[in-house]
Amino acid sequence: MVQGARTPVIAGNWKMHKTIEEAEEFINALIPAIAETLNHVYLAVPFTAIKSLADRLQQTHLVIGAQNLNDAAEGAFTGEISGRMLKDAGAKFVIIGHSERRQGFGESNTFINRKVIRALSEGLQPMLCIGETFEEREEGKTHSVLETQIIEGLKGIAAQQIEKMIIAYEPVWAIGKGHHAATPKEAQQEHRYCRGVIADHWGKEAANSLPILYGGSVNPENVRSFLDQPDVDGVLVGGASLCVDAFAQIVNYQTINV
Ligand code: PGA
Repeated sequence: MVQGARTPVIAGNWKMHKTIEEAEEFINALIPAIAETLNHVYLAVPFTAIKSLADRLQQTHLVIGAQNLNDAAEGAFTGEISGRMLKDAGAKFVIIGHSERRQGFGESNTFINRKVIRALSEGLQPMLCIGETFEEREEGKTHSVLETQIIEGLKGIAAQQIEKMIIAYEPVWAIGKGHHAATPKEAQQEHRYCRGVIADHWGKEAANSLPILYGGSVNPENVRSFLDQPDVDGVLVGGASLCVDAFAQIVNYQTINV
């Protein structure tokens, strides 16, 4: 990304990993390892670890968030969690529409849109995940899929609210593949496309302030190549965010020699 424009956002997504004790150990080792960074550092942790990490991190620039929320304010929804509960536990942001939820739990763009609206109304920053599957890419549908996910996912949201959000472009075929990430050029192309869709619907100002992260097999070796792209404003890291050393290297990517 162009330095000085949008501050890089380095986000980790722990998915269904780590007990409270493991999470605390991780954070205790991470804080000194990233003390020098000026990047924004986000960690989406399991619900059970939010409170203790958020309490611990109050005086740091590390931002703790959740990986999902329900679209309703409250009610008879056994097993679900509300935005208000997440906020109360100390979460500042929430991942919405991750492909593992779209595919594994049948989440539609309409449902995802209601979650984005709920998160904003509860004062949580939504991190909306979008991305095409391998088949959709092969069939040349990447842009239409991304456009639909953006337009339907952000329906009814004002430009001033869009500026408060984060979008993560995560091609489904590149998630969890270790060394099969998208190429930096592919990421740049899709990010530019997404920014164009935002600009067309919500204006240039919103499009220019909204951070768009790349996700899918980001690791310490490839992070810099993504962040060197003008429209890649950060990364969303799954597997490599579970290991303190790897995640710290990703956060400190500007210091990696290439
Ligand atoms: P990965 O996951 O880094 O393990 O590919 C990314 C994600 O699912 O957010």
